[in-house]
Amino acid sequence: MAIEHVFIIGAGQMGGGIAQVCAQAGYQVTLHEIKEEAYNRGFAVITKNLSRNVEKGRMTEEEKQEVLGRFTQSLDLQNAKHADLVIEAAVENMEVKTSIFAQLDEITPEHTILATNTSSLPITEIGAATKRPEKVIGMHFMNPVPVMQLVEIIRGLATDDTVYEAVEEMTRRLGKTPVEVNDYPGFVANRVLMPMINEAIFTLYEGVATKEAIDDVMKMGMNHPMGPLQLADFIGLDTCLYIMETLYEGFGDSKYRPCPLLRKYVKAGWLGKKTDRGFYTY
Ligand code: CAA
Repeated sequence: MAIEHVFIIGAGQMGGGIAQVCAQAGYQVTLHEIKEEAYNRGFAVITKNLSRNVEKGRMTEEEKQEVLGRFTQSLDLQNAKHADLVIEAAVENMEVKTSIFAQLDEITPEHTILATNTSSLPITEIGAATKRPEKVIGMHFMNPVPVMQLVEIIRGLATDDTVYEAVEEMTRRLGKTPVEVNDYPGFVANRVLMPMINEAIFTLYEGVATKEAIDDVMKMGMNHPMGPLQLADFIGLDTCLYIMETLYEGFGDSKYRPCPLLRKYVKAGWLGKKTDRGFYTY
């Protein structure tokens, strides 16, 4: 199953990063957004990242231009009709995702693999919105995509082995390391990471220590590159809350209850780095 043309939905933090690494690895990339301004914002970040690579001597100006030349803008989902692989990185909302996947099932050719970058929503349920659940798979990239090594590859209940193998091979071509995971809430990455972040928020909420102290303990004591509260700001507090809710509902276990302080910050619109304020101000 040869993958040449990748159609990426969403030019935000994740979709833009995925598009960048795909184009750098030689794939033809169509980057899809609903509004042109959102596309332009995402494309500007990609261009800036590539310019930094040129400045640091990691690529030449010609190579940068070649990478940018592999991009096609899309504002119409119908453009997915040329794709061998779709990677969806739209908002984390089951209704939005199932609607996109049902449309993609109609638009794309029979051979097209439909992947989602969801951080915690069930791949099996997204696959069930299509008539090709065997071609639906999770490709969970980590943020910031150009830097992070891992892609968590999630098999839905019906995902075909040949589809898994094609996606695994492509991940290696991106210079990333695939790790195989089955479809349960939060997969592995967020099943382990988010309760740690949530617990760090509880320690702040209960006055065990200041935010700086909590982050210092994890940075200096556990060699984490950033503390859990700073990492939560970096991921987005709305995303953290959404993932905790998914774990809480998915397992029906109170150990995953989101910290009230996390809810309060999200209600206040303090969503972390992207709104210039979360646990820290930016
Ligand atoms: N895009 C592209 N490159 C970036 C970047 C970005 N957004 N942010 C940093 N970089 C690059 C820098 O250019 C730099 O590269 P060079 O040294 O080669 O120029 C390199 O990363 C290191 O950056 P800095 O020196 O500025 O800062 P740092 O040493 O603190 O590293 C970091 C930054 C790599 C982000 C590091 O802090 C880190 O690893 N943090 C934790 C990241 C993490 O845990 N990610 C997973 C989040 S969870 C997730 O994504 C899944 C989910 O579903 C929620």
